Amino acid sequence: MQRTLVFLKPNSIQRNLTGTILSRFEQKGLKLVALKMLNLTEEQARSLYAEHDGKDFFPPLLRFITSGPVVAAVFEGRDAVPVCRKLVGSTDPSVAEPGTIRGDFGSTVRKNLLHASDSRENADREIRVFFGESEIMNYDCCLEEQL
Ligand code: RTP
Ligand code: MG
Repeated sequence: MQRTLVFLKPNSIQRNLTGTILSRFEQKGLKLVALKMLNLTEEQARSLYAEHDGKDFFPPLLRFITSGPVVAAVFEGRDAVPVCRKLVGSTDPSVAEPGTIRGDFGSTVRKNLLHASDSRENADREIRVFFGESEIMNYDCCLEEQL
């Protein structure tokens, strides 16, 4: 089983898409094991997007993701990392496939609604930015027998 980190960027919350977007992951059969709403600090934002430090879009990206509350979730499941990336769709919503979250609800690269971890290593690191170990639930889910 893999765990992955998803966070809904501030415009998802502003557009009342929180439930709609989280339901995409639930409906796919991923198990929700952690969830919270928070304001990201500058330090958390920098750490999440450290790989983009120095790029022209880095300062506006930091301003955007710290501009209002975000919703962070950990989903668990078989191949959760690539499965969630696939559900999210391409970075640019204008070319993201219909049926993906960015393809269905997004318009611009800079406000592309949500983030999902792109590797197991980054998932582990990003989960720790948002959650302590005691905030990640261990529970049996009857759904797993149906997948
Ligand atoms: P994310 O990290 O947010 O899940 O997105 P991603 O992997 O699909 O894309 P990535 O290349 O990691 O870019 C991180 C975020 O930076 C913003 N961005 N703006 N040209 C631009 O203005 C530009 N390029 C990227 C987007 O918000 C992107 O999700
Ligand atoms: Mg990325």
